[in-house]
Amino acid sequence: MMEYRTLGRTDWQVSAISFGSWAIGDAWGPTKEEESLAALHQALDRGVNFFDTADIYGDGRSERLLARLRRERKDPFYVATKAGRRLPKQTVEGYSRKNLTSWIERSLKNLEAETIDLLQLHCPPTDLYYHPEAFGVLDDLVKAGKIRFYGVSVERVEEGLKAIEFPGVQSVQIIYNIFRQRPAELFFTEARRRKVGILARLPLSSGLLAGKMTRESKFSPDDHRSFNREGAAFDRGETFSGVPFEVGLDAVEALRALVPAGESMAGFALRWILMNEAVTCAIPGAKRPTQVDENCAAAALPPLSDETMADVREIYETKIRQHVQYNW
Ligand SMILES: NC(=O)c1ccc[n+]([C@@H]2O[C@H](COP(=O)([O-])OP(=O)(O)OC[C@H]3O[C@@H](n4cnc5c(N)ncnc54)[C@H](OP(=O)(O)O)[C@@H]3O)[C@@H](O)[C@H]2O)c1
Repeated sequence: MMEYRTLGRTDWQVSAISFGSWAIGDAWGPTKEEESLAALHQALDRGVNFFDTADIYGDGRSERLLARLRRERKDPFYVATKAGRRLPKQTVEGYSRKNLTSWIERSLKNLEAETIDLLQLHCPPTDLYYHPEAFGVLDDLVKAGKIRFYGVSVERVEEGLKAIEFPGVQSVQIIYNIFRQRPAELFFTEARRRKVGILARLPLSSGLLAGKMTRESKFSPDDHRSFNREGAAFDRGETFSGVPFEVGLDAVEALRALVPAGESMAGFALRWILMNEAVTCAIPGAKRPTQVDENCAAAALPPLSDETMADVREIYETKIRQHVQYNW
């Protein structure tokens, strides 16, 4: 049974466990198109109605798979895509009217759509929030019918706080999981006050919180879990939440003792996220239908007890906090 939550001020009822479409695009090792598509179909079967993607995932492959899903199914669903990472270098000037318009036209083509449901700026530089012009351009694109709503994806809590000052921002996507607890401190309170939706990304900390990795785990060279641990390609926080791999493994072992019998660790980690009412949805990435099943099951799990929540917090405080709290 899926749970649905209202996204910001949109009136949309969005599945609390939604779908992150990066891994079916690129940067996560080899994937098979038919298996990726099967994962998307399974998501709809399990009640997912919200898919996060971006123009750069597989240079449009992820968006095109969602267009194919739309062709193959009658079920209504929302697609949130992102723009901004086609820039060779992140600059404020890069978020110009000309660029934003052409990125959006390209996404519309990939998605085979006339309007983008939710367009998110893709982790723009912090300074962009001191330049309201870009948000004015997004308002114009809403008026022109190119996008229905817009939001932002951010790296830092402070960027989220700045972003929600703009009245048109409907959603903020941020890393929020057992290894990244800081967003819940001040930011979620403010976001709730302003009725801004929260999309929790990396809910499984790049798969680490699914509890299946060991010190011997190997990742293929085209998987960011091998090439971006130190941030060689993009913000290092996007890989394992910026937690050193072995530190994360130790924390996962401590967490394992808290997972109720019969529940998966992935389900536990996702249910922990949903305990926070400021969160609209978690957007776990999934490469195959079995992962989708396990992740969607989290929506029907019983709430975590106060004692378990306190134990999770203790693990964060003692093992993880020092590696992340002041970095993002
Ligand atoms: N800057 C941004 O805006 C930004 C950055 C990152 C992500 N995102 C969005 O957020 C979404 C989620 O983040 P993410 O994909 O980076 O991280 P994630 O959801 O924490 O991890 C996803 C990965 O975990 C593994 N997995 C998923 N379910 C599993 C299960 N039940 N059991 C075992 N393993 C499982 C899969 O990889 P393996 O099977 O290969 O282990 C999957 O690709 C992305 O897909 C994307 O839409 C946005």
